[in-house]
Amino acid sequence: MELGKKIAEFMHARSVLVTFKKFPDGESYIRIEEELKSDDVCIVQTTYPSQDESIMQLALIADAARNHGAKTITAVVPYLAYARQDKIFLEGEAVSIDAVAKMLNSVGIDKLLTVNIHKEDVLSRFQFKAKSISAAFLLAEYFNKKGLSGAFALAPDENATYMAESASAVLNGGFGYFEKIRDPHTEAISMVLKKINVKGRTVIIFDDMISTGSTIVAAAKNLKKLGAAKICVGCVHPLLAGDAEERIRKAGVSELVGTDSISSNVSKVSLSPLIGKELLSSGIK
Ligand code: R5P
Repeated sequence: MELGKKIAEFMHARSVLVTFKKFPDGESYIRIEEELKSDDVCIVQTTYPSQDESIMQLALIADAARNHGAKTITAVVPYLAYARQDKIFLEGEAVSIDAVAKMLNSVGIDKLLTVNIHKEDVLSRFQFKAKSISAAFLLAEYFNKKGLSGAFALAPDENATYMAESASAVLNGGFGYFEKIRDPHTEAISMVLKKINVKGRTVIIFDDMISTGSTIVAAAKNLKKLGAAKICVGCVHPLLAGDAEERIRKAGVSELVGTDSISSNVSKVSLSPLIGKELLSSGIK
């Protein structure tokens, strides 16, 4: 079942059908099929794949919801694309998340809820209230149920340390991080190994997203060098571009688990209770 429907079920809320279509020339079309008058509306729209089309659809749905009488509009965007391009890395680049924010700022959205955004400070680019919640503990609970309690939680870069820390509160096996450097021209990744003792241990790598898989491949290779006995991965947004999954498995990862923020064959953990509870506690029914 799609995440939006699962969230509506969790909240005992009415779900409304939106029709999507593409014109022969490639333009997006949406139509909200039911009356919205005076409703608090949550639009559940993750933005992958394709990022560009999904963001455009989100803007169209928000605009249509506003025009059709929605009292409040909360955009629930579990994976918010373009968040990584939050500054100019090379002269001449766009600050992509700013462009996305400007677009969404203008279509009547009141609040935005996302999950494990790459960096929380990009949320200030929106003119409405925007919040990111973390699903790291849900992934850790999945591994706990699989009998991996006591595993070491590793962040493949410093930014993801908060995820490893929150996972370790569930797994009780300690946590640490590698230092990652990505070349802005070649995208090649190098890692500085921290002094962590994982010899003979099960290690679970926690990250916000997997795109090309290069981060996880580099982390897994380094963990092997350090003598880890078993390597698993929990990621919130399994984009898994191209042959990422195959490369990760070849690097020695025995289990790869993601959430349904993006539908994939590794999406075994649902975000619906996390998002549903957050929406209910924010007063949305
Ligand atoms: C970046 O720092 C993120 O947290 C992820 O580690 C990264 O985006 C994953 O990308 P890739 O799979 O292409 O290495």
